Amino acid sequence: MNGDLESIVLTEEQIEQKVKEAAAWLDARFAGKYPLAISVLKGSVMFFCDLVRAMQTPVQIDFMTVSSYGSGSVSTGVPKIVMDLAASVEGRDVILVEDIVDSGNTLVRMRDLILGRGAKSFTVVALMDKPSRRVVDVKADYACYEIGDEFIVGYGLDYAQKYRTLPYIGILKREIYEK
Ligand code: PRP
Repeated sequence: MNGDLESIVLTEEQIEQKVKEAAAWLDARFAGKYPLAISVLKGSVMFFCDLVRAMQTPVQIDFMTVSSYGSGSVSTGVPKIVMDLAASVEGRDVILVEDIVDSGNTLVRMRDLILGRGAKSFTVVALMDKPSRRVVDVKADYACYEIGDEFIVGYGLDYAQKYRTLPYIGILKREIYEK
């Protein structure tokens, strides 16, 4: 385990199992369709790549970079579109893939944007969910794992851009982000 972590929340094996379950849920929902799966960068990239590869249903993939945290640990509340999609969402079944739903601000921003552009349906799959932190009334259609207010990193999740490449998810030691 990385020395900056106090404990592991999800091991590689547990993540693999969660990914399989989420992929099966999506396959059941989108059988016979050709949805557009969108990765909200950068946090969701690891989960996204594993998830779309675990699905049987063929999907088109696209990416959007949205950022709300800057370099700190508290959301600014105003998610910024740093890089837009290449594909049109008009008339498409859209699957939005998030690493975490925290305040919910990013999700609301993405939902309004994608439905506003004429998507046929909008489905959200999130790896982690922090319902206690919600400031807007929104939720993922499928969340793999619910967690309290711990500061988690790894498997895409960062603190000041670090720890994203850890293959597991763990709780960051308080002394790291409070110093
Ligand atoms: C994180 C995460 C989600 C969002 C969730 O992204 O990847 O997209 O915050 O928080 P919210 O529910 O409070 O909006 P961040 O803005 O940190 O960018 P990153 O994906 O590049 O880490």
